[in-house]
Amino acid sequence: MKKLYIANWKSNKNFEQSTAWITEFSKQIAPHLLQKDFEKEIVIAPSFPAIPGVNYFIGAQKMKDHLFLASQDISPFPAGSYTGAVSAVNLQDSGVKYVIVGHSERRKYFHETHQDIANKIDQCLENNLTPIMCVDADIMSEQFSHLTDEVRKKIIVAYEPVDYIGGTETQPVDEALKVVQEIIERYSPMRVIYGGSVNSDSITPFLKHDKISGFLVGGASLKVESFVDLLITDHA
Ligand code: PGA
Repeated sequence: MKKLYIANWKSNKNFEQSTAWITEFSKQIAPHLLQKDFEKEIVIAPSFPAIPGVNYFIGAQKMKDHLFLASQDISPFPAGSYTGAVSAVNLQDSGVKYVIVGHSERRKYFHETHQDIANKIDQCLENNLTPIMCVDADIMSEQFSHLTDEVRKKIIVAYEPVDYIGGTETQPVDEALKVVQEIIERYSPMRVIYGGSVNSDSITPFLKHDKISGFLVGGASLKVESFVDLLITDHA
């Protein structure tokens, strides 16, 4: 299975900066995509307003088989009278394939509950979108207790130790691996990825562990060069 590399831009970049990024990124990554052993699925998670722009450039530059789109959030409600919310129906023809749900920043600043997150996951699954649920070790069992066994099997889990988000050093790989292993054994999600200060240096010890099936990247995805460097670390 191809490893997932997700660029989470958070609330950064306007429309023009987002499309400039994707244009430059396409140029820089193109020669690497031609290599046979480049087994990676690259996913960009822009702000909602930038999604159409990034989607357009992915199509125009014929990167459709290699680059995919994620949204950083979704409404816990279906389409209807929920002013300001972006529902699964709103995302239907946007090109979005994945949805990040329950990021620690959403929990911290927007007071999202475990039930809100479970409802968002239901919205995704009812509408053909793949949810990526962010978890941390100390709240993990509580988070999963809101999901049925059937739902657990249909999600991707991003293990994101909050203390390691936004820095330059990841959690030590053996500690991260222990939690990833526990998630796989107890909850059987589709796959588990790691997030928290991943960059082209810190990623190296993680690459040889097959149980970690990808990365959620914040800071190091904002500049084209640093994201490309990270993507080609094992191909350089
Ligand atoms: P970071 O962010 O790579 O800047 O630590 C990761 C995340 O919050 O998803």
